[in-house]
Amino acid sequence: MSNNLTWHQHTVNKQARAKKLKQKPSVIWLTGLSGSGKSTIASLLEKRLFEANHTTYLLDGDNVRHGLCGDLGFDDKARVENIRRISEVSKLFVDAGQIVITAFISPFKADRDYCRSLLESGEFAEVFVDTPLEICEQRDPKGLYKKARSGDIKNFTGIDSAYESPISPEIRLNYIDETPPETAERLYQQLVEKGYI
Ligand code: PPS
Repeated sequence: MSNNLTWHQHTVNKQARAKKLKQKPSVIWLTGLSGSGKSTIASLLEKRLFEANHTTYLLDGDNVRHGLCGDLGFDDKARVENIRRISEVSKLFVDAGQIVITAFISPFKADRDYCRSLLESGEFAEVFVDTPLEICEQRDPKGLYKKARSGDIKNFTGIDSAYESPISPEIRLNYIDETPPETAERLYQQLVEKGYI
């Protein structure tokens, strides 16, 4: 970063925007393996929040990699940069008063903690979509595990690329017998109970 930069304190700030939107801005950070259900649950949660009159924005791995992070691959360095960008964007959305939902594998603890460090206390909820690898691989909705096993895809999370499970996430979702709408509703209720919403 250049030394010749000055931070401007603008008149309309996060508190004013949040007050106008009648909500508490936050980042609801979903992490989990490919095929764990992150995107499905995130989308249903956003719908639930929207119906409850909240203003939200969903940042999703596959989608963001079509644009903002379109230049990044899947080696460790690229994943770190991916999550760094997402974290900075999430912070901007929180400053805009939004409830941000993110759905990224975000395999490394340090990178998830980086996002937390950018925000104020109570603005970041780590949600571990704790679906075991065997089940993700059985589901294989995009056929990616099959390609990873045959060597057609390299650096695939859980196969030949690491996933560091959260140690003490704010919320852990491991209700694999529930339907996605049931899990999303459970998540919504837990966020309310814990004071995020
Ligand atoms: S990360 O690790 O947080 O940077 O990944 P993310 O931005 O969430 O992107 C994950 C989606 O990219 C597709 N994909 C891969 N995932 C993991 N490893 C490899 N090598 C890979 N190649 C492509 C895949 O569709 C992931 O989406 P989800 O929804 O997680 O299955």
